[in-house]
Amino acid sequence: MKSKVKLAPDQKIIVYYFSGTGNTQIIAKKIVETFNSKGFTATLINIENVTTISIGNSDVIGIGFPIAGFSTYPIVFDFLQKIDTVHGNYAFAFDTMGGTSLWGIMGKLKTILANKGFRTLGFEEFKMPPNLFVKFPENSRRTRVEKGLRRAEDFVNNLIAGDLSWNRIPIVSEVMYRLSHALFSITEYKWHQKILKMKVDTTKCNACGICSSKCPVKNIIVQEKAVIGDHCQYCFRCVGVCPSKAISGIASPRSLHYLAEGAQF
Ligand SMILES: Cc1cc2nc3c(=O)[nH]c(=O)nc-3n(C[C@H](O)[C@H](O)[C@H](O)COP(=O)(O)O)c2cc1C
Ligand code: SF4
Ligand code: SF4
Repeated sequence: MKSKVKLAPDQKIIVYYFSGTGNTQIIAKKIVETFNSKGFTATLINIENVTTISIGNSDVIGIGFPIAGFSTYPIVFDFLQKIDTVHGNYAFAFDTMGGTSLWGIMGKLKTILANKGFRTLGFEEFKMPPNLFVKFPENSRRTRVEKGLRRAEDFVNNLIAGDLSWNRIPIVSEVMYRLSHALFSITEYKWHQKILKMKVDTTKCNACGICSSKCPVKNIIVQEKAVIGDHCQYCFRCVGVCPSKAISGIASPRSLHYLAEGAQF
């Protein structure tokens, strides 16, 4: 069902996002730029930089994140938990993904925000170049990004016109969310981190410290070489930002090292 809520330029908009390797960041930027080009006052905030959240100052919030394991990262759920209860503010959300989310997070997020008092406007998913397993050829990557950016503009136009919906597929949403949540819970175990967390090729690492300063959960220390700790959220940013291509993982082979063009960390 469409929201039928039309947005007006006097409504303040804040778009919060998390992005591991830049796909969500460039879509979030496009969404904010499009709102601003239509006379709205929209602000972009990276949730990694958020200490306090004052939703009261914004009539509409947007939340963007990458799909990971058919859900999203614990850092996003921590952020959601910090949001205070509101009284009828509007919310929209979007994710970026390489293949499919299987719609689990869409339903769960709607419930979380509705329980906090938000009126939900619309949810959109953007298929972007995957940042794990396979490296798409450059032209396919570019095609996906261009399409994503065009769809981000359409998303904003439809939001403004009240022409979007946010579906919650009964049972499927809950089952998928629970499955992926269980998947992420096991990442906290030491054995899991030992097997799957990122590995540093010490012959390539020159201890520049970039990975450490960019890791969203401060999970890397650099002394003589970079050392990855046991709290990895598998966002793959360190893999993409390392100038020596010294970091890789089981799902991020040495040939991949993805970072969205134009993204800034
Ligand atoms: C650990 C991990 C798990 C992922 N799981 C999924 C998934 O379940 N479904 C999917 O379509 N894409 C998945 N992806 C791909 C990302 O969702 C996709 O590349 C996304 O656009 C990355 O956004 P970012 O660059 O903002 O981090 C996964 C990526 C990573 C690193
Ligand atoms: S960014 Fe790469 S080279 Fe620099 S400290 Fe990290 S692993 Fe080593
Ligand atoms: S260690 Fe790398 S993959 Fe793990 S959370 Fe930090 S930046 Fe992300």
